[in-house]
Amino acid sequence: MDGRLLALAREEKENIRREAVRTDRLRHERVYARVPEVQRLDRQIAALIPQAAAAALGGGGRSVEDLRRESLDLQARRAELLVENGWPIDYLDGAWDCPRCRDTGYVQGRMCACLKKLYDKAQAQDLSALLKLGSESFGTFELGLYDDRPDPASGVSPRTQMETVFGICYDYAVDFGKRRENYLFRGGTGLGKTFLSACIAREVAGQGYSVVYETAVGAMAAFEEQKFSHDGEAAARADALVRRICECDLLILDDLGTEMVTEFSRSALYTLVNTRLLDKKKTVVSTNLTAAQMAKRYTPQIMSRLEGEYQVLSFAGTDIRVLKKERGLD
Ligand SMILES: Nc1ncnc2c1ncn2[C@@H]1O[C@H](COP(=O)(O)OP(=O)(O)O)[C@@H](O)[C@H]1O
Ligand SMILES: [Mg+2]
Ligand SMILES: [Zn+2]
Repeated sequence: MDGRLLALAREEKENIRREAVRTDRLRHERVYARVPEVQRLDRQIAALIPQAAAAALGGGGRSVEDLRRESLDLQARRAELLVENGWPIDYLDGAWDCPRCRDTGYVQGRMCACLKKLYDKAQAQDLSALLKLGSESFGTFELGLYDDRPDPASGVSPRTQMETVFGICYDYAVDFGKRRENYLFRGGTGLGKTFLSACIAREVAGQGYSVVYETAVGAMAAFEEQKFSHDGEAAARADALVRRICECDLLILDDLGTEMVTEFSRSALYTLVNTRLLDKKKTVVSTNLTAAQMAKRYTPQIMSRLEGEYQVLSFAGTDIRVLKKERGLD
């Protein structure tokens, strides 16, 4: 489970619990104000509890059975009063949203279904916010969009090439927990790099891993804010994002090469790539740059990490955005 999302879900559950406690208090106040006898009965019922405890230990003047009968009589009278005055019989039994766990989120140390539901919701919101996740999933990936005529240079058709790429990505995502690879998606605009990273993100996040999607521009901006912002709140937010970028189980770093290259961004990128490698956290980077263009842009340090520790997947075909427009699909 992703600790950050779990914290979000627990915070929401805690708000629900607090609201239930408040509602319960208001209900008691309302009933006591209108029917004071209910409050009197509640006090009498409460007063019987220590007596019953004493009786159970063999002390006190009255028998357990006697006390129990009196308590039940008082409770019945109280229930009558509630119903007579138009309230549900369980009106004062707690305003829990989830009676199973009384809104604590746990039942005997195990996560309650209500908290799991909030966790799933937090996860879905998180991913769709980051990725603007649409219909991208392995199931909607269309191989038919890639040309099946062999490329004259390689002799391999884009479709065959992409079938291989798709298979590698699929296996990687499905088996994420056992895999160690990092990938570098390389290829021109509109070949499905972002699409396929979104498929991986959805699948891996669905398994409960923490997944962060960021463009290189967004990631570098976070590093910069963290370091240089004078606005405390913005700096703290950037700091949290940088930490997630460095620490999440899977980072999708999209569009490497579109960010401005400065001394600072080079060192930030190195930190990012290197930290994740040292911590054995997996990363999928995509880029429109060729190997030669990358070598020109980035330091040998960065290049040696990427070349040594990332497997390159070359995307082939023609710009699918253009294709879809021509076919009137968009
Ligand atoms: N295999 C595919 N099946 C269906 N739609 C695709 C596929 N690949 C890409 N697309 C669509 O084509 C457009 C460009 O894809 P995108 O992943 O953004 O390309 P890239 O990131 O390589 O520039 C997007 O609208 C995307 O949804
Ligand atoms: Mg893209
Ligand atoms: Zn519950």
